[in-house]
Formats: sequence, C-alpha cells, structure tokens
Amino acid sequence: MLYIGIDLGTSSVKLLLVDEHGAIRNTVSRDYPISFPRPGWSEQNPDDWWDACLDGLKALLTGNAAGEVAGIGVGGQMHGLVILDEADAVIRPAILWNDGRTGEETDWLNTAVGRERLSEMTANIAFAGFTAPKLLWLKKHEPEHFARIAKIMLPKDYINYRLTGVHACDCSDASGMLLLDVAHRRWSAGMLDICGVKEAQMPRLYESYDVIGTVSPALAAALGLRPGVQVVAGAGDNAAAAVGTGTVGAGGCNISLGTSGTLFISSDRFRVDPHNALHAFAHADGGWHLMGCMLSAASCNKWLYEDIFRTRDYGAEQSAVAPEALGHGRVYFLPYLMGERSPINDVNARAAFVGMSMDTTRADMVQAVLEGVAFAIRDSFEVAKAIGLDIRRSKLCGGGSRSDVWRTIFANVLGIPLDLVKTEQGPGYGAAMLAMVGCGRFATVAEAAAALVEVAGTVEPDAALTALYDAQYQKFRRIYPAMRELFPAIR
Ligand code: XUL
Repeated sequence: MLYIGIDLGTSSVKLLLVDEHGAIRNTVSRDYPISFPRPGWSEQNPDDWWDACLDGLKALLTGNAAGEVAGIGVGGQMHGLVILDEADAVIRPAILWNDGRTGEETDWLNTAVGRERLSEMTANIAFAGFTAPKLLWLKKHEPEHFARIAKIMLPKDYINYRLTGVHACDCSDASGMLLLDVAHRRWSAGMLDICGVKEAQMPRLYESYDVIGTVSPALAAALGLRPGVQVVAGAGDNAAAAVGTGTVGAGGCNISLGTSGTLFISSDRFRVDPHNALHAFAHADGGWHLMGCMLSAASCNKWLYEDIFRTRDYGAEQSAVAPEALGHGRVYFLPYLMGERSPINDVNARAAFVGMSMDTTRADMVQAVLEGVAFAIRDSFEVAKAIGLDIRRSKLCGGGSRSDVWRTIFANVLGIPLDLVKTEQGPGYGAAMLAMVGCGRFATVAEAAAALVEVAGTVEPDAALTALYDAQYQKFRRIYPAMRELFPAIR
C-alpha cells in the first residue's frame, strides 16, 4: 500500500508518496504567494493552498499506482486563522502564524484576562501569532466578516476539508489556537466565550492519527484513487516534523529550521512551563510537548541572500564563511524580521546587525545571520534548562539542517550532539506516518517511529568551539534588552 504525506508550509506545499516500508516513491512541491499587506502582517489565500495541493497531487500520482494509495495525512503551518461562511466559502485571506497585527489583543488577553487564567484554561498565554487574538482583532476591525463565521479552522484543516468535506482539527494543531484546554484535549468553554464564538463554530477534535473521513468520490475519481482512501486528522507542522524524526514519547528533542525555527521537547505527560515562555501543546503521538518558536529562522537567510544580495546561490554564500571564523565573529544579528515569539514575545522587536565596521565583509554578515538564529534558539534552550529539562542531544530537521556550516554552528552554540535522520522529509513524512497509523499499518505512532526512523549521522560539538560560542552568546543575549525600548519608537 502507499501513503501520501502533505506538508502545507508557508512558502510552498510539499507532497510525498511513501510506501508501507517508509521508502519515498515520489516528491512534488508547489509554491504559492504570501502577502505582507502592512509591516508585520502576513496573509495567504486558502484557495491558493488548495490549488497547489491539487496540482501537486496530480503530479505526485501520475504514473505512480494511484490505485494503491490507502491513506493521506496533512501537516501544516500552525495558528493561521481560516474562516468559512455557511456555504463553506472562505470569508477573507488567512491571517498567518507570523502575523503581528494583534499586539493590542494579545496584551489585553495577557493583562485583562490575565496570564494565570489563560494558562489555567489553555496551558498557554497569548502570543500575537496565536489564533484567539486574531479572532478578537477580526471582531473589532472586520465585524462584518466576524458575523459571517460558520467555521473556524487552521490551514491544514482547510486542506482536509477540501479532501473529505469534513470539518476536523487535531489536538496538536488546536493547541496553538489558545482555544484548547490542552490538558484535557477539548475546546475551552471559557476561551470560546472570551472570543465570542460557539463550539458549533469549531471543527470536531481528533487525535492526529484518527481517521476523519475518506477522499470525496469526485476527487478520488479525478485523481485515480480507489474509493475510500482514508484521511487522518494530521498535525501542526512541528508535531508532524517531530513524528518524522522519531521525536515521540518521553524526553525527545527536535530542532526544526524552516521559515520558523523551533525547539520541540516531547513528553508522555502534561506539563506547563511556569513562566509560559515555552508553549505547552498536545503532541501528535497522543502525548504532549513543550516548544519554543522563533518566527524567522531559515527565512533570515532567504531575506539576506535573495532580497538583499539578489542571489539564490545559498551554497556560495555559506561556503564563503571560513571554518576558522566560527566563534570569532564580531558582527551580531538579531533575527527578529517579523517580531519575535519565543521566548521574548515582542511584536515590536525588529532585526538588527550590530558591530559592523568598515572591514565587515559579506561573509561576516552571512555568518552573523546563521549565528544569530542559533543564538535565538539557544534562548529557548536556556528556558528549557531553567525549568529542569535536561536536553543531552537533539534531532535536527528542516531545510536549514542541510547546511553543513549551520549544523556545526548549532551543535556548538547549543553544546550538544545533533542527530540527522535518514529520511529527512520534514512534516510531510511525519504526516504520512500518521496516515499509516490511521490505516492500521502500525498500532501506534511510537511503533511507526521505531520501525521507520533511522539516525543517519551526528554532528558532535567541539569543546573549544562550544566555549567560544558560549562567550559570544553571553554578549548576544545583552543586545535585545539594550534595544527593546527603541523598537516601538522606530516602527
Ligand atoms: C509554531 C509556529 C511555526 C509555524 C510554521 O508555533 O508558529 O512553526 O507552524 O509553519
């Protein structure tokens, strides 16, 4: 049998066709536009996602035994607000995870409702990218749209809806809405009330590996699928990526370097960071996880190379960074191109190069960006350490994990070995594994991970370089507090 894994990312959708032993038969990717209507805002059109998925599915299956497909799983960018009317038509463009327009609503939730009450209800406090503050923003700024909402869903749920006609959401992705009682894996009546929405407007909740329905007959016929192909609820992209690297059960760690950068710590029990700097979310394996998320990770490289240097040759830019320069850089980069989530929670924060001089080179800037992102992940790593989590090693995945120099920087900035898995296909692979569980190929997600995920190599830290980076990190962490007050003034 074959399984399809779909990763609905921020810049593109990636589709994988996987056999029952986890071998990749085909991969396809399709891009779609993102719009930044105002500084710090970010939107996409859900129908662009679907058009790209459909086109991608056709290409994925052409000449590839479509009739053998048993199941589909989707992992997707989290937190985005997708709203449908009574006729299931999209009301307005989706407001994405890295959109910072909800500063006021986020502050109101954290102060008027209060961080403590929010954390009691949802295990989390409000962050600008989360879905609940977006609902409050919509209620205030676009009341005509708010009044028409029949269903609220997350990006990958819209794809599942187009595949099956079913309105569903899984617990991992729902955790990032600030509308879920994460401990009990059910919608929080208190939070729905605060946002002015009814439970009937929410999709039904499932575990990530639960089957929500089957591919609709017309679509199945158009794609050459046999009737009854099962679709599972799927997961938020970070939970799906963690499944794909075998980060399941107690005490696993995965770092993902995509558009966003995340530190993901899996757990078999519910646990909250007492300061709520790390998100406390449900995991796609039925357990939970803590996560720190920075908004601009690999996208900082993309911005520097493509928008500023006007090149797509990432290899050439990064190979100009001399190995002996690592740990000796004098330029620092704050990676807050879209404001920042974890752990500083500041929509006004902005990116900055600090320490440039007349002899600063292009390679110094490239290095500073790679290091700045690693230092910012270390910020979340330090929060995890401070609450007693003993992270001795981690998996590394996502597009950024393919860069040799960045892997070395990360292993040494964090001072831990980083494992790379053999089939590194990001959230799409984890989503295909969830489909396998839903279809009964494996009994549990842990079983699927044990059978399919293999570590292919490890990047070991070097004691001398770790010490150099530690000294640099101590300087890096002083930069944002020194600039914080300035950011709102220069917006
Ligand atoms: C996680 C987050 C991002 C998006 C990116 O909280 O906001 O990782 O899921 O796709």
